[in-house]
Amino acid sequence: MNGPPQWPSWPPPATDEQRRALLAVLDSGRWGATSGTATEEFAAAFAGHAGAAHGVCTVNGTVALFLALRALGVGPGDEVIVPAYTFAASATAVALAGADPVVADVTEDTLHLDPEAARALVGPRTKAVMAVHLAGAPADTEALRALGLPVVEDAAQAHGAARHGRPAGSLGDVACFSFQSSKAMTAGEGGIVVTGDRVLYERVWALHNVGRSPEGGWYDHPEVGWNLRMTEFQAALLHPQLGLLDGWLDRRARGAAVLAEALGGVPGLDLVPAPPGTTRHTWHLAMLRYDSGAFGGRPKEAFLAAMAAEGVPLDAGYRSLSRVPYVKPGAPCPVAEAAEESVVWVRQPMLMADGEAVAYIARAAEVVRRRFRA
Ligand SMILES: Cc1ncc(COP(=O)(O)O)c(C=O)c1O
Repeated sequence: MNGPPQWPSWPPPATDEQRRALLAVLDSGRWGATSGTATEEFAAAFAGHAGAAHGVCTVNGTVALFLALRALGVGPGDEVIVPAYTFAASATAVALAGADPVVADVTEDTLHLDPEAARALVGPRTKAVMAVHLAGAPADTEALRALGLPVVEDAAQAHGAARHGRPAGSLGDVACFSFQSSKAMTAGEGGIVVTGDRVLYERVWALHNVGRSPEGGWYDHPEVGWNLRMTEFQAALLHPQLGLLDGWLDRRARGAAVLAEALGGVPGLDLVPAPPGTTRHTWHLAMLRYDSGAFGGRPKEAFLAAMAAEGVPLDAGYRSLSRVPYVKPGAPCPVAEAAEESVVWVRQPMLMADGEAVAYIARAAEVVRRRFRA
């Protein structure tokens, strides 16, 4: 290979099936979910794939979480436990519902929500716990369920993931996925709530559809609700991706295996392991732990800049939510805060490159390491 690889772009080029589906919606003149059927059909298909009986498509993943929380009855005065190392939306959805996000620390090894740290924060106001399937590996939902609270799966990064053979989407009381541009299935924006609970489903449906009920009239709004519906165009783009997802996940798993092996030759740079029990990882991110001691004491920022100069654009990852002003300080979160200094990410499109290109990531890191130590 001469020079750095060309990294694949995401989303991949549109397929003929997507073009046909998109045009069919365009020509039908039924562009909204209240007149067409594409959104409902996609919701049912996606929910089935995620091991859930029901699905409601939404405008994005954040409001999917908001709807799930509201459907569970979460509102002002309540608290929801959220891991400190996650995307801000896991917490802002709680704030949107009028409740307080309370952050708990994550485990040293996997960076997923630590069930014991969560348990320590359960109090009379705690109404739910957010199980974030970080990077595409499911959280320890059995331990979180043992807290005795409703479990909301934040599966924004986990389309097709599984724990002990059970799909993300069927591991808690209700689950939410995102279809934003960077995600494994995307329509640019979009989201979905899935659940096996008929009552919760009907609550989510009403809340996302201006408080209507399936039997009621167009102007019957027995309760407060919002228009948070997905368009038919998004569903048309998304539905064909369900048939492609498995192939994409396999490709990323191969990329992650190549990366793991190649990193064996780079002291001080290791893959963050998935929680035990993960039977399918989506590799939305490959999180790497950077040990500056092995890199001549140089901070993570210097490593990221040097890697970018080698043609490997890595990501600095999250700031700990324990530092965010709207989050209620639960307890100190030393693990999530330390991760700010020591964790870097390889994003999913890079793992879809061919094996030689993926191995280049590790080779470039070793070049940088030797330079830093010289
Ligand atoms: C963990 C997590 N939760 C929630 C979201 C919110 O999804 P959206 O951007 O579709 O609102 C995202 C992605 O953006 C995410 O990564």
